[in-house]
Amino acid sequence: MSVKQKVIAIDGPSASGKGTVASRVAAALGFDYLDSGALYRLTALYAQQQHAEWHDEAAVAALAERLPAEFKDGSIWLDGQDVSEAIRTEAIGMGASAVAQLPKVRAALLQRQRDFLGDKGLVGDGRDMGSVVFPEAALKIFLTASAQVRAERRAKQLGLPCEGVAFDRILSDIEARDEADRRRAVAPLQQLPDALLLDTTDLGIEESVKKVLDWYSKV
Ligand code: DC
Repeated sequence: MSVKQKVIAIDGPSASGKGTVASRVAAALGFDYLDSGALYRLTALYAQQQHAEWHDEAAVAALAERLPAEFKDGSIWLDGQDVSEAIRTEAIGMGASAVAQLPKVRAALLQRQRDFLGDKGLVGDGRDMGSVVFPEAALKIFLTASAQVRAERRAKQLGLPCEGVAFDRILSDIEARDEADRRRAVAPLQQLPDALLLDTTDLGIEESVKKVLDWYSKV
């Protein structure tokens, strides 16, 4: 297997748990890990800091091109500041979804994503890992779960109950973001014909990781 093929591409909707599964699979195999959504989140945050509108394609693409971001020691840095938590808010999630619709922004981030692949191999998670960024990946997975279960996972993460107004808001935010990611013209979220479906609605993290490792051992 060439280094280019030593890639596991995991795509799927937000809050599906793909980040957790992807990073654990990477650790188990000794591969590097790319959280591509973080790059779109960083771009949205950077645009906000630099007073660029999220829909201003030229301005946001120019910022994405020179995004002063670093992934080190388990943290994510922007312009020398630890923004690991700041990029995880729902507002920045919506901003990320907005900037991710812009073709020039996607183009500006493409090589940067490919550069994450070194000699070790890579597990990348996002929306277009298998379709655009690493079309030669050895294993492509579409990881999903029902919107209800994803909203419950997000609520638990935030320490909120799985019912009531706040929960309904989380669920509708998730559904709105799914819809935007699926319907956009460039690199829409979709299950590719060559991707294996991993539905984690009734599956825990350990079982999901095991499933991916099992599939990879057979490629
Ligand atoms: O996976 P996430 O929630 O951190 O992603 C944030 C947003 O970035 C999401 O709404 C869609 C976008 N995204 C994308 O368009 N392509 C990727 N490869 C990863 C994320």
